[in-house]
Amino acid sequence: MTKISFIGAGNVGTTAALRVIEKQLGDVVLLDIDSEMALGKSLDLSDYQSSVNGKCKIIGTSDYSLIKDSDIIVVTAGRARKKEEKITREGLAQINTDIIKTVAENIKKYSPDSIVLTVTNPVDKMNKIIFDILQTDRKKIIGVGSLLDSFRLKTVISEELKTPSSAVLGMVIGPHNDDMIPLFSKTTVNGKKITELITADRLTELKKEIQLRGKKITSLMGSGYYAIGNTISLMIETILQDKKEIIPASIILEGEYGITDISVGVPIKLGRNGAEVVEMDFSEKEELVEIAGNMLN
Ligand code: 2OP
Repeated sequence: MTKISFIGAGNVGTTAALRVIEKQLGDVVLLDIDSEMALGKSLDLSDYQSSVNGKCKIIGTSDYSLIKDSDIIVVTAGRARKKEEKITREGLAQINTDIIKTVAENIKKYSPDSIVLTVTNPVDKMNKIIFDILQTDRKKIIGVGSLLDSFRLKTVISEELKTPSSAVLGMVIGPHNDDMIPLFSKTTVNGKKITELITADRLTELKKEIQLRGKKITSLMGSGYYAIGNTISLMIETILQDKKEIIPASIILEGEYGITDISVGVPIKLGRNGAEVVEMDFSEKEELVEIAGNMLN
């Protein structure tokens, strides 16, 4: 049976687990340093599963040995941003680095061959830390952020043009922070180029709106979890069903786009073996290179 472990049983991890159980994608291990919370949430999710007549095994624990032989490990452990805090995703780096190092050491010890989906912020940096500790194939260490940002692009553009979000095809790449890059040069609405539907000035405003949408949500309710929860479950489904879909995600680059040794959101092909970088041609390439350079600071 497929096994999916969630390290961190907060709102994001639990929402993703809920979607995984709803879709019956595999057995679930919910791990948290707060063992009572992990156990409580696993019991609640087991009852939820009965309501959808599912059959997956659901465990809540703080014992890392139970993640052994996971197909996929989702890392959400760490501090999220709170409503009253003016902290950026980057501001969490100091706090979350130590937590992520411990998580990565335990993945290395108990389940080194798993595909890891890193979600903890700042996700690009945390993904690189996990990669450095695991020293495994970079295809297996994938940061989740740009796909959520791409869904935000769909929301913002569909509201602007009063069209269903399904009509909008577009991607956001770059870091999962305020410098993220909506690929407007590749975005279409009902097959038409967005650059022919919206003026350049208005697109600049909409770009800002997409970039700051996470911050807006956080200022209203604390860090969001419904959209990221489903984004994670979609990526799990894409991997397990070997869909080989092209989506944006953070991966360690080895020279692609002229960038090396940095984890940043780029188009990848996602399937059972993990993520393969797909080098695309787009006019925002210079911006990507410049912003990736700033990530080294
Ligand atoms: C988001 O963008 C908090 O990074 C998370 O909603």
